Amino acid sequence: MSRPRRGRKHLIALVGLPARGKTFTARKLAGYLAWLGYPTRVFNVGERRRRVLGPGQHHEFFDPANREAAELRHRLAEDELDDAMAWLRAEGRVAIYDATNTTRARRDVIRARSVVEDRDLLFVEIVNQDPAVIETNLRETKLSSPDYAGVDEQEALRDFRARIAHYESVYQTLAEDEGAWLRIVDRGRKVEIHEVWGWIPGRIVGFLTNLQVTRRPIWLTRHGQSTWNVLGRIGGDSELSPKGREFAKGLARFVRGHFGKESNLDVWTSTLRRTVETALPLDIEPGQWKALDEIHAGVCDGMSYAEIAAALPAEFEARKRDKFTYRYPRGESYQDVVQRVDRVIIELERYRTPVLVIGHRAVLRALAGYFRQIPRAAVPFLPMPLHTLLQLTPTAYGCEEVRVELEPRVVE
Ligand code: F6P
Repeated sequence: MSRPRRGRKHLIALVGLPARGKTFTARKLAGYLAWLGYPTRVFNVGERRRRVLGPGQHHEFFDPANREAAELRHRLAEDELDDAMAWLRAEGRVAIYDATNTTRARRDVIRARSVVEDRDLLFVEIVNQDPAVIETNLRETKLSSPDYAGVDEQEALRDFRARIAHYESVYQTLAEDEGAWLRIVDRGRKVEIHEVWGWIPGRIVGFLTNLQVTRRPIWLTRHGQSTWNVLGRIGGDSELSPKGREFAKGLARFVRGHFGKESNLDVWTSTLRRTVETALPLDIEPGQWKALDEIHAGVCDGMSYAEIAAALPAEFEARKRDKFTYRYPRGESYQDVVQRVDRVIIELERYRTPVLVIGHRAVLRALAGYFRQIPRAAVPFLPMPLHTLLQLTPTAYGCEEVRVELEPRVVE
């Protein structure tokens, strides 16, 4: 094991047959790492091929016996790898190289480049043996790919299966002597971790081994209006106002109407009174998370924004200048909040059942910022009004947001 060196840069290279969920995995991982604060980008060889050659290559193009095409594919893969390496030499911290990389020869090229450029290389192999899963993936992502635009569905499926067969004919799974790698079999049924050390690789393993591809919505809402919301004070641990209690009842009615009585909905709150009270009428025992407590305003806890501006003008201005990294004296910044809700994200990604999170303005901005892949600097400004339910539904490559406004409407 080598000695730890600070600020290492990482190349994450995907390995796996087409339609195994590599691109979904790459994008989710990139979103997660960027949200944690590591400049991360995906480098996708398939997209480069479509850019350079245009979409619609037939399966023969992927036949390893097709020398000319194999040479072309090799060049495209090299060019994309060049871009990834160049980006790592510049501002990048983690480059995710999204390609099949199913042969040892291809991976040897990647390894040699990583050694020359002194990058930490981690292969992530995605193996899926469940035909139903492959079929779903094929239909949900590949049929809508520009490669098959305007092509009859049956014809597209036939062609894509033939493409997979070409890759299968030369596929070599990762071997013991290939350095650091992670192999995820059948969506996490089995996970193998080989020679993976360090903080960022550790985060990657933690994230990917919990990531589910099930597309189920996540519900977020702030607590009902609190007595301190009425007074315009930040922080604290006040109880609900009469309007807040009315919202809590309305929320319970909405949830029962939407999910039915026997639903398997999980409810998570912070440890603060206003969220716990909001969950009460739901009649579902909530999971309480300290990690979901509101941003800690330190010496400003209990003050109004006007009081902070008058008593601590330098602090007020500093927060205005950079709201994401600004840390309240003896309190927290949004950046700190992101770090502590990381564990909540991992759990949300792991759950297959619906979850309703009853939280606070800043923590919910941090959570929504992750799912919607919002740039960090914009996270503290995400609209997060009281008495409004957010439904976030992950899609193949993004996230859809629906907002439901519940009564009574209140202004802040
Ligand atoms: O005012 C409600 C509140 O949840 C405060 O407790 C918290 O300090 C604040 O919102 C977070 O919002 P902002 O970061 O915009 O000040």
